[in-house]
Amino acid sequence: MTKRDYLTVASLSIEELGKVLDLADELKATRGARDDLAGRSIGMIFEKPSTRTRVSFEVGITELGAAAVVLNAGELQLGRGETIEDTARVLSRYLHAVVVRTFAQSRLDALASAGSIPVVNALSDVSHPCQALADLQTIREYKGRLAGLRLAYLGDGNNVTHSLIEAGAMTGMHLAVGCPAGHEPLPDVVAAASAVARRTGATITVTDDPHAAAANADVVYTDVWTSMGQEAQRDERVARFERYRVDAGILQVARPDALVMHCLPAHRGEEIAADVIDGQQSVVFTQAENRLHSQKALLLFLLA
Ligand code: CP
Ligand code: NVA
Repeated sequence: MTKRDYLTVASLSIEELGKVLDLADELKATRGARDDLAGRSIGMIFEKPSTRTRVSFEVGITELGAAAVVLNAGELQLGRGETIEDTARVLSRYLHAVVVRTFAQSRLDALASAGSIPVVNALSDVSHPCQALADLQTIREYKGRLAGLRLAYLGDGNNVTHSLIEAGAMTGMHLAVGCPAGHEPLPDVVAAASAVARRTGATITVTDDPHAAAANADVVYTDVWTSMGQEAQRDERVARFERYRVDAGILQVARPDALVMHCLPAHRGEEIAADVIDGQQSVVFTQAENRLHSQKALLLFLLA
């Protein structure tokens, strides 16, 4: 059997994505210690900081009966010039899967093709597919469905946006991205998702008008304006993104029962107003919790 990786949401078929989400719901309803992955060891390599991903994977791996081997990139020979391919070959002799947070997506691709164990993308510069799993689980939990819902994403067209676009296209959602010119999601991601959308009934629109994007939305989603690795651009980004803050004015044009979502970490007063993220419509902490359940489901799909 060939091993499977989870490098982007599209690493799963539409049917497989549905199965993983169903399993995530089941694992949430029956949370507790299991032994499905007893005797396995799963590595976690972080080349960028993390709170949610790092902790939810380690707890999830433990709850499934496996051992988590947490590797700080700076402590690996990788940091001293050992190639990613050799690292992949060596880790494949010890571990049963590896979860990796890194910069270039090509590092994940190299790890996946040189190694013989499943590679899970725990965030790269262009995608965050584990976040998208939790996002779908959360939307379904509150809205009871995905197909036909309108999701507005406001802010930077970044890694989180790309994975949401892929996930939304696969599940038949209507996605509207509101972002300033020059910060649109990558055209190749939008093109690939649009091809999927033609089959599922999803739609994807990109506009520089935040109110047009948020109009009648069932879900209003945002993420930081300055992603990890972009810190030098922070001041200029804060100025450029000002109009795209998710605040009470934006929520007024969305549906009255719209969910407010954010992958976290959040910067209150920047991409989202404090009264919105801390308000009645916000589901951000359930969204964070669902990282645990959906990643456990993913690991079972890849390994059990
Ligand atoms: N949302 C998310 O991935 O958070 P962390 O960076 O804390 O893992
Ligand atoms: N876009 C953000 C997501 C953090 C979870 C970043 O890459 O920093």
